[in-house]
Amino acid sequence: MPIKVTFNTNLNEGNKEVLDCIKKYIREKYDLSTVNIVEVGSGHGRWGSFLAPFVKSYIGIEPDKEYLRMAKEVTATNTQYLQGTGENIPLTGKYEVFLFMYSWHFMKKGDKALSELKRLLKKEGIIIIVEPSEKTEKWASSKLTKGSKEFDQCMYDAKIKDLKKARELLEKQSLFKIVKEGTFISNNALYWVLENP
Ligand SMILES: C[S@@+](CC[C@H](N)C(=O)[O-])C[C@H]1O[C@@H](n2cnc3c(N)ncnc32)[C@H](O)[C@@H]1O
Repeated sequence: MPIKVTFNTNLNEGNKEVLDCIKKYIREKYDLSTVNIVEVGSGHGRWGSFLAPFVKSYIGIEPDKEYLRMAKEVTATNTQYLQGTGENIPLTGKYEVFLFMYSWHFMKKGDKALSELKRLLKKEGIIIIVEPSEKTEKWASSKLTKGSKEFDQCMYDAKIKDLKKARELLEKQSLFKIVKEGTFISNNALYWVLENP
């Protein structure tokens, strides 16, 4: 079995800035403790671990079986992990908050992911998207980290292309209103907050 890329699970400066910002933007609309969050592309569950103590429920959607197995090892009572994709989310009902933590550019069919969000997001609910950027220096994969022995220029160029394409889709779509956007200081990641009008 190939060794999986793992994501930093420490509440270091970068993760803390991002977590605080997510909590702040959710609190601007909801009492955090009443909120049901769905993270699409939840990897091995680090954001579920960070957020579970503060929210009513957290559901992680992830296509990769190995990441799901790892996530389920650290699950709390108010979290669950389901196999699925952003283009085909295995849920019914309505949720207040969707998160895409460094996963939006992985959507092969972004339009389909947007229509799934429309189906499942409450009216006035929010989507928070955090993405790496051209200014990201330290990637989870050493193949993407310039200066590393394993750096792979083709892989890096493909990643930058995917990020641009995913960003363009966000800007041209009309299902959701972009209410905030910015850059995190500590890790140069970009974020968008979209609202379901
Ligand atoms: C860079 S990782 C981020 C993982 C996690 N959000 C984090 O920050 O720790 C991107 C994740 O998206 C998942 N993914 C890939 N294609 C996907 C899709 N079509 N729908 C949902 N998730 C997908 C990958 O398996 C991976 O776990």
